[in-house]
Amino acid sequence: MTAFKGQLDDTTLTIRLTPFAELCAEQAELVWRMRTHPAVAEWMTNPGPIPWEAHLAFMARQADDLANLNLLATDEAGAAGVVALHNRSGSHDSAELGIYRNPFRTERGLGRRLLRALHDFAFSDPSLTTITLRVHRDNAPACHLYRSEGYAEAGADADPRFVKMALQRNVYEARRTRYGE
Ligand SMILES: CC(C)(COP(=O)(O)OP(=O)(O)OC[C@H]1O[C@@H](n2cnc3c(N)ncnc32)[C@H](O)[C@@H]1OP(=O)(O)O)[C@@H](O)C(=O)NCCC(=O)NCCS
Repeated sequence: MTAFKGQLDDTTLTIRLTPFAELCAEQAELVWRMRTHPAVAEWMTNPGPIPWEAHLAFMARQADDLANLNLLATDEAGAAGVVALHNRSGSHDSAELGIYRNPFRTERGLGRRLLRALHDFAFSDPSLTTITLRVHRDNAPACHLYRSEGYAEAGADADPRFVKMALQRNVYEARRTRYGE
């Protein structure tokens, strides 16, 4: 398990990131309940149902899947959500973001804390230069969050319902020094 500071305003809150391959059975089930919650599922690339057996098979593949890293995020209150780096290039200079907050929690700002913790984790790899993502145009909270954390539009997506965005390392580093202001 790895601890990263998800700094927000003047509060320092620690988000811990644990690879799916290291989760206990109870945590693996919680991931399934979060991922299949309608508030999360509707914005996923695959919004359809995920049978429990398929989830178990997905979890069993985690240790061998070097291109995709899925992490359970936890804090003082328990599970905060899931963050992921998908389609990592061979040289690890780029990766595609995945994120969802715990839909059973209600506080504001949880997504921003998750995102910042993932950024700190991802850019601690010196070879990473760019985090990319694709987001549904109608996903207003996510679009707002990404733009406010320095992501810029990065070309057209093949599916016009989606927007491609990217965060460059220099933008992340410049923003990070200002988190506490
Ligand atoms: C995307 C997600 C992680 C964001 O988490 P969150 O806890 O809701 O986000 P935060 O509260 O930290 O920030 C959301 C921001 O969007 C704003 N927002 C909320 N609803 C909004 C709306 N309808 N239009 C514009 N902005 C909106 C909030 O005010 C906040 O901005 P602020 O901090 O400047 O006030 C979360 O909504 C989620 O898990 N959604 C389901 C899965 C998903 O969509 N994943 C992303 C796929 S690309």
